Amino acid sequence: MAMMANKFDGDLLSKLDSLRVISNFAVGYDNVDVGAATGRGIVVTNTPGVLTDATADLAFGLLLTAARRIAEGDRLVREGKFTGWTPMTMLGNDVSGKTLGVIGAGRIGAAVAKRAEGFRMKILYFSRRKNDEIEKLGGVFLELHELLKESDFVSLSVPLNKETEGLIGKREIGVMKRNAILINTSRGEVVDEETLVTALKERRIAGAGLDVYKNEPRVNHRLVKLENVVLSPHLGSATFNTRAKMAEMAALNAISVFRNERPPAIVNPEALGVSFRPV
Ligand code: GLV
Repeated sequence: MAMMANKFDGDLLSKLDSLRVISNFAVGYDNVDVGAATGRGIVVTNTPGVLTDATADLAFGLLLTAARRIAEGDRLVREGKFTGWTPMTMLGNDVSGKTLGVIGAGRIGAAVAKRAEGFRMKILYFSRRKNDEIEKLGGVFLELHELLKESDFVSLSVPLNKETEGLIGKREIGVMKRNAILINTSRGEVVDEETLVTALKERRIAGAGLDVYKNEPRVNHRLVKLENVVLSPHLGSATFNTRAKMAEMAALNAISVFRNERPPAIVNPEALGVSFRPV
């Protein structure tokens, strides 16, 4: 059973002769070279579905916290700097009625869009394919740059792979609105972190809410100095119920392989057909 910090590259896999299954305790499986695993008949499994709501809740929590400066306000109160209500103290951005751009319309992206509906937000989305659930909420599919130009909030929920690594770079941040807030609950590598830090520092965009980082668990030292970013320590699925469900699913996935049954959430079904011969 693997945690996402456990990297399984081709080199390591070639040394694990008796390995039959990597049961990832996560929905994302970018820590595993799936092609290499499949070639060796190693089944890779993950935990989709059970963490959708928890992760979407966290994305929305970051969105609200960043927009309304809640974490910054908490720091101010704790430091004894709350000197009373004034008309201009700690003003933030509206959420209700604003435009949310969802990038990656899988289960989590759709769940974020559902929450946005409750805030009467206009929903835009960009994904590899159209998503009926989001369209039913009135969501409009746009190309990436069009979405970025129009969104007040941008939420990332793509898996990390070759196509999404660095998806949000200089050009993308460059077209975002100055009042925009970027939320990332996917993987740190989806965003060019240095460019984001500079944009936040120069107020090129208004803020960010980040749950994931490029070099986890290390966090960019420039990022922690900024007030206009909310930082959480990869908490997307971190609720008691969700983690219990993930544990059960990950265990079932692994046990199924040894029972010669198809695991409930298999990433590489092709591996089931590969007869494994140790080298
Ligand atoms: C967490 O980041 C996951 O992929 O489950």
